[in-house]
Amino acid sequence: CKVRHYKFNVVLKNTTRLCSSKSIVTVNGKFPGPTLYAREDDTVLVKVRNLVNHNVTIHWHGVKQIRTGWADGPAYITQCPIIPGQSYLYNFTITGQRGTLLWHAHVNWLRSTLHGAIVILPKRGVPYPFPKPDKELVVILGEWWKSDTEDVINEALKSGLAPNVSDVHTINGLPGIVSVAYTSGKTYLLRIINAALNEELFFKIAGHLFTVVEVDASYVKPFKTDNLLIAPGQTTNALLNTDQNSGKYTIVASTFMDSPVVVVDNLTATAILHYIGTLATFPTVLTTPPLRNATQVANNFTKSLKSLNSKKNPANVPLTVDHSLLFTIGLGINPCPSCTAGNGSRVVAAVNNVTFVMPTTALLQAHYFNTQGVFTTDFPGNPSQVYNYTASPPVASSQTTNGTKVYRLAFNSTVQVVLQDTGVIAPESHPVHLHGFNFFVVGSGVGNYDPKTDQSTFNLVDPVERNTIAVPTGGWTAFRFRADNPGVWFLHCHFEVHTTWGLKMAFLVDNGKGPNESLIPPPNDLPKC
Ligand code: C2O
Repeated sequence: CKVRHYKFNVVLKNTTRLCSSKSIVTVNGKFPGPTLYAREDDTVLVKVRNLVNHNVTIHWHGVKQIRTGWADGPAYITQCPIIPGQSYLYNFTITGQRGTLLWHAHVNWLRSTLHGAIVILPKRGVPYPFPKPDKELVVILGEWWKSDTEDVINEALKSGLAPNVSDVHTINGLPGIVSVAYTSGKTYLLRIINAALNEELFFKIAGHLFTVVEVDASYVKPFKTDNLLIAPGQTTNALLNTDQNSGKYTIVASTFMDSPVVVVDNLTATAILHYIGTLATFPTVLTTPPLRNATQVANNFTKSLKSLNSKKNPANVPLTVDHSLLFTIGLGINPCPSCTAGNGSRVVAAVNNVTFVMPTTALLQAHYFNTQGVFTTDFPGNPSQVYNYTASPPVASSQTTNGTKVYRLAFNSTVQVVLQDTGVIAPESHPVHLHGFNFFVVGSGVGNYDPKTDQSTFNLVDPVERNTIAVPTGGWTAFRFRADNPGVWFLHCHFEVHTTWGLKMAFLVDNGKGPNESLIPPPNDLPKC
């Protein structure tokens, strides 16, 4: 294994999309940002230098950060932001992971332009568990606003209403027709990342099938599909056989959102798969993307994802559970006398009715140095009030409580979390991300989770292992993990708008007793608040 050094200079770059220019925050002037390459077991050192007028942090989304929470990146959770003019060296080792992940800013809405791919190759000499591709390509899906995204969210917070939706979707940073040249008769490995802020996306190529081989840097049993579904923060590796002789085929990224009330931009991003040798004037084969409420298409895709494990060789999924948690996730309304719209109230979001309030110093430091008064450890493991979570019309009060609460886990304890979407304002699919771990997705369903009947249907043999899971609209998802990584680990909706509104909490995992079971000491250059 090697040590890989990267320099990430955070700088402004004037960028034009949709005939309108703005100055965006980038790494090294690139949008999307540079790809970080490593091999499994490598140590990665990234020197992030903040040369803009915003506070910055970078998160290595999906990297487990075993004992190195200091390098995880979420602002005010594991570190204070890197202030303008300062720098911070992120230092972590990639343990037991290979595949595609992403890095992104983890403060305010900066990740709209501050993101890029992480490509982790297997250890030297270890092959992929699928046919070796002839070529590999990174495909980053995103969203673009003509306005400055910091203004978009700040105005929304002032008004108390929902922020403006993006103006267009993008593929590798571009909204319009990008032509990509492909050679006939080859196998391409596409490493596809959803870096959008607020939208799950379908991804489809006319006239071609994908073979899905990996999600969130975990291998899956290969399956063929004409259409991928990727939530923000998720990644999907798929093989693409260029089995046509020639021609031009549309590539589309389009919204999946089946909530009844959500306003959505349907500005599908398109690109073209162009066989080398095909004349530019040749007509392009079109494709129809799934409807934005194509729930069945979405479910079929999600249900096809299984890890490589089998009955003989079951996944490492915990078979017994020390902490059995039920988290309701959804929206709510809180009073806001200062809000300029919304009649004295504002939209919020919550987990078990707690709207998370960002502390002014990082939770991990407060935990490590035993600073009192920053957080409390009374995060409720179950809803305080049992109601018909998914009733329509909603039955529960929409009022939430505010707090900076964490849920404490003993080192190495086993955890089951059932995420239950609520209809409190409207049911909606939430892509929930857990830092510091991969989890096994053991079950999911529609309506209210019922432990008596649902638990017996769990897949404990070959559940997919990942770090971000889209909980179905008006339904639930159950996952399990072992709390074998000491630190403070953020759990939140990866729709940036819902994170901002408070759909977030953190687990605090205590140190273990063994020599390699405690958090390493903080680095000297760790930013201070
Ligand atoms: Cu990719 Cu906490 O996020």
